[in-house]
Amino acid sequence: MSSHPSHIAVLDDAARLPVSIAMLNERRRIGQRLVMVTAYDFPSARAAEAAGVDLVLVGDSGAMTVLGYPSTIEVSTEEMLMLTQAVRRGLRSPLLVADLPFGSYEESDEQAVRTAVRFIKQGRADAVKLERGSVTSQARAAAIVQAGIPVMGHVGLTPQTATALGGYRAQGRSSGSAIRIAEEMLALQRAGCFAVVLEAVPAAVTEALMPLMDVPVIGIGAGPATDGQVLVFHDLLGIREGRGARFVQRYGDLQQEMNAGVAAYAADVRAGHYPAAEHCYSIDADELAAFRAELAALGGEITGH
Ligand code: KIV
Repeated sequence: MSSHPSHIAVLDDAARLPVSIAMLNERRRIGQRLVMVTAYDFPSARAAEAAGVDLVLVGDSGAMTVLGYPSTIEVSTEEMLMLTQAVRRGLRSPLLVADLPFGSYEESDEQAVRTAVRFIKQGRADAVKLERGSVTSQARAAAIVQAGIPVMGHVGLTPQTATALGGYRAQGRSSGSAIRIAEEMLALQRAGCFAVVLEAVPAAVTEALMPLMDVPVIGIGAGPATDGQVLVFHDLLGIREGRGARFVQRYGDLQQEMNAGVAAYAADVRAGHYPAAEHCYSIDADELAAFRAELAALGGEITGH
């Protein structure tokens, strides 16, 4: 067990080595599927650590899942840095990747490198992720890699530019669109990305693309042929209202459990069932008698009786 708060059950595996990019490549080479999950705070990081996942992404999906924004585009670099720092405090072995938020890397290579450096220095991330495979994103990825920071690409459905893509919908469903995705993945690989996220594309398109790739491809809604999978923490555990995307598999219904827990607490307080005797601190009888006597005297002084 770790030195972290005892109310969070943690299976700390001291023998587990910090995951490196070389380890990811080796696991891919031997056909071991890579597991990535998002996290946005200390407890979600502890859950990812305990599960022994390979990579943790502080996704800008946190804009919606934990900050309540309507989309990912509103979240700021400062907010993403705070989430990254909280995750870092809870994480030991998985590779920590931080999403560069919308507007923090598009303007110039200099802006992209400056932002990426902040996520490494202040957020203590191991790598950064940026969206799209456009010529601009390719250049930004190359510039950040040149600065010595590992970069993960992200193509297919890219939520930061969902409006331009026609909404949150699957991509690569025509030959032209699928070819564009293939070109973008290859270009990001050439730019030096150590891995690429492929989101919401037909499984058959993914299968055809995979033999062209030399770096790990992490899928989300891209079928089973990728080297690994990523899911949003809140989607997989059901910490949300509504069903979510077609590709989400739920492994819990925590929103319902949270609602029920808080409602039971409220009902207990209102009914006078909480706190009960077992929740109260005791005081030695003599100390209590002395306190009461002093309090009575104090009360008399105040009221004049
Ligand atoms: O922000 C995010 O959570 C992501 C994953 C869905 C890949 O980009």
